[in-house]
Amino acid sequence: MKSIVLIGMMGSGKSTCARQLSKTLGRELVDTDAQIVARAGKAIADVFAQDGEQAFRDWETAICCELSGRDDLVIATGGGLILRQENVQMLRKSGVLVFLNRSPELTFKTTSMDGRPLAQSGKAQFLETYAVRLPFYRAAAALEICDFSSVPKTVTEMLRKLKNMEGIL
Ligand code: S3P
Repeated sequence: MKSIVLIGMMGSGKSTCARQLSKTLGRELVDTDAQIVARAGKAIADVFAQDGEQAFRDWETAICCELSGRDDLVIATGGGLILRQENVQMLRKSGVLVFLNRSPELTFKTTSMDGRPLAQSGKAQFLETYAVRLPFYRAAAALEICDFSSVPKTVTEMLRKLKNMEGIL
C-alpha cells in the first residue's frame, strides 16, 4: 500500500497525527526532521545555523529519494520540504500526500516555535510564510484536512477520506 505523507506548516500537527496514524494502522513511522537530526548528529536549529538552509534542504531531498523506494509507511515531513518540486515528485511515487491545513493564527498562538529557525521573526512573518506556501501545499496534496478539533478527530477524518482512495488502506 502507498505511504501516507503528512505535509503542512510548522506546528500544524504533522508529527503528532503521524504518530497516532502509525499506531492505528500498525505502520512504520518516518519523521524527516528526526532523520536529519539523527544523520547530522545535531539539532535542526544547529544545522541551519552552522551549515545553512540549503544544506538542510539537501538532507531533505536525499531522504525523499530513499523514501520514494519504500511504501506502507506513515511519513511526517518538515514544513518546507514540499518547496522543492523534485521532493514532491519523489514522495508521490510511493505515497499519497495529505495537507494538514490548520489555521496559522491558531498555530502561532498555541504551538511552541522553539527549535524552529524559520518561525523566529514573529506572527506577521509566520502568516506571510503560510500565504506564500499555501499554493505549494495545495498543489502537492491529494487531500486537504481542515478539522483540528482534536488529534483523534483529525486522524479519523483523514482515515475516512483515505478509505475512498485506491491503494492506500
Ligand atoms: C521548516 C519546518 C520544520 C523543520 C525546519 C524547516 C520549514 O519542521 O523542517 O525547521 O521550512 O517550515 P516542522 O514543520 O515539523 O516544524
